[in-house]
This record gives sequence, structure tokens and C-alpha cells, in this order.
Amino acid sequence: MVERHLAKVDVVSSNLIARSIFYPIACVISVHKHFLFSTFSFFIESMYEWSKLSGVKWMDAWEDRFRGNPNFVIEILKGGKSSRVRVFCGTEKEAAAIVEQFGGSVRKIQRAEWANPVVKDQPLLKIRDVFGVTTEADPKKLKKLAAENPAREILSIPAEMAFGTGDHATTSTCLRLLVDIGRSRPAGWSVADLGTGTGLLVIAAKKVGAGEAYACDFDPYSVKATADNLVRNGVEGVKLEEKDVLKWKPRKKYDVVVANLFSTILIQAFPVIAQLVKPGGEVVISGILASQAWDVFTAAAQHGFGFPTVIRKGKWVTARGGWMNDLVEKGEV
Ligand SMILES: C[S@@+](CC[C@H](N)C(=O)[O-])C[C@H]1O[C@@H](n2cnc3c(N)ncnc32)[C@H](O)[C@@H]1O
Repeated sequence: MVERHLAKVDVVSSNLIARSIFYPIACVISVHKHFLFSTFSFFIESMYEWSKLSGVKWMDAWEDRFRGNPNFVIEILKGGKSSRVRVFCGTEKEAAAIVEQFGGSVRKIQRAEWANPVVKDQPLLKIRDVFGVTTEADPKKLKKLAAENPAREILSIPAEMAFGTGDHATTSTCLRLLVDIGRSRPAGWSVADLGTGTGLLVIAAKKVGAGEAYACDFDPYSVKATADNLVRNGVEGVKLEEKDVLKWKPRKKYDVVVANLFSTILIQAFPVIAQLVKPGGEVVISGILASQAWDVFTAAAQHGFGFPTVIRKGKWVTARGGWMNDLVEKGEV
């Protein structure tokens, strides 16, 4: 049914297909094949489609917003002036979070509407001189990538339902900051990754010197993807939980907390983050639309945090900071 519906429109953009209104319908179907690939292992019966009608002139803005999300599609509707933006989500909660941020509506899709998997190669994402992040999972191809990039550690994060194969500006900027943190701290620092997605950030943290590590996500797909990715990348010693950060009363503190969460979630999460960060600890926050950064930094300050490092990539803002009193002590604010 989805395929039949799509056959009536031109699919303009998806992270799985080239941006072309002339792209064959076979490719349209392949988008949907991808969904089953990610869901096969979970044997769930339904997923959720978030959609919103929008003017074609906003197409680039939507692409920026959802860049890196493999389950994002834009279709131009008949007449060519309006488009339908869609994101396929594994949980109703995930779809609701998009509604909260961008409006639109959510539809439940039954398993019968899905098809078979498709995999698309993405270029190696280079993080400083340390990592090469790939969606490749084939051991032979990974070996080849390692041989071609001898100075880099190759991280294998196949595109799945979870967010975070590294090609989103928020993820790649967090990765770069984690590499910097790894260089600035003696090995063995503890880390908590809130909203871990595919687990890429906690995996990278472990590789650049983190000792004790914790990762959570409220999305069961993310937790499963992270568990797989930890094994795939040879990382041990990460405590992984399915948890809603906003309902958490943490009992442990960490040297570094990384939270790539949308602005609205971050703002609500600062009371929890404040309980998680050790004195002298650091915080990396991301997922912040530039237009919402002021609100996020204001909320952060109300909980004692300051952010001397602010990096903007397109519409997205990422920041590295810590306790305001530490920053004042070190003369960093
Ligand atoms: C923008 S993605 C970031 C994923 C990954 N950390 C990265 O940097 O690529 C946000 C992630 O946070 C999760 N998330 C959103 N709200 C959450 C909450 N209240 N509790 C736990 N996880 C949450 C989402 O499921 C998603 O996987």
C-alpha cells in the first residue's frame, strides 16, 4: 500500500536514494525494504509514520533537519508546489517527539506494509585523525577499509532504525569533541551517553580512553542496535539500559556526560544531567537547533552549567562545557 501510494508521487529525497525527482520507482520501494531490514531482528508488528505537508521551498530545510536519518523521505505532490515529508519511526514515542518539535501527524503502519532490506554504501566519515566511521558491516570490506586507512580506527555502524551512523552534523561534532576530551584527560575517565541511538558516541568514547561507561535510550531499537554495535566494534564494559532520561533518578556520577538529544528533551533533562556530572566533569550537548540554542543555554545555566565551546554546523549547535564554578576557576568563561 505504501509502495502504491508512493508510485503516485515523485520521491525527491531520502538518505537511501539520490535526490532526484526522476529516480525510478524501484528505488522508492527500496526505501521501504530498508525498514524490514532494521526490524526483522526485532519481530515487531508495527511501526509509525510521521508526516507533514510542506511547501517545496522548505525542502532543503527538511533535509538539513533529518540529514543522517535513513528513514526520512520527501515526496513532491502533484502540481509541484507542495511536498509531504515523512519519517518512519520504530516507536510511537519517537514519532511523537518529532510531532512535538515540528508538528505534523502520526500513522501506525502494520508489518504487512514493509518489504525486504536494502543497504546503501556511504563514504567513510573521517573524525579528526582518529576514526573512520562506516555503515559497512561486511568483515572483508571492513578489512579493506582498515588497510586503506591505516592510521584510523574503523568504526562499523550499519544504518538501522536508530539515529546515529555518524553522518548527521550533531553526531560527527560530538565525536570530534569526544576525541578532544580523550586527548585532554588521563585514560580511565567515566562516561554516560544519554540517548545513545546506535551507540556510536559511547563506542568512540571507549576507544579514546573512557573506562567505566553507561549508555541509555528509551527506544528499544536503539538499545538493540547499540548492543549489536558494541559487539561488532569489540567494545566491552558498557552498561546499556533502555531508559527514559526524563524519568531517571541517577545514583552515579560521571566525568563526562554526552547528550545528543533534541532541545526540548535537553531542557527537561538538565535536572538529571546535573545529578550525573562529577565536580570537574564535562558535558557535551547536541541536537540543538540554532533557533532554540538560547533556551537550551539558559536552562543549562539555571542548573549550573556553562559552555565555552559552541560549534554550529548548518542549523545544528553542539557545545562542550561543564560546571560554571569550574569554568570560572579555570578562567574559561
Ligand atoms: C539525536 S539522536 C542521537 C543519537 C546518538 N547519540 C548520536 O549522537 O548519533 C537522539 C536519541 O535520543 C533518544 N532519546 C530521545 N529522548 C529520549 C529520552 N527522553 N530518554 C532516552 N532517550 C531519548 C532517541 O531515541 C535517539 O536515539
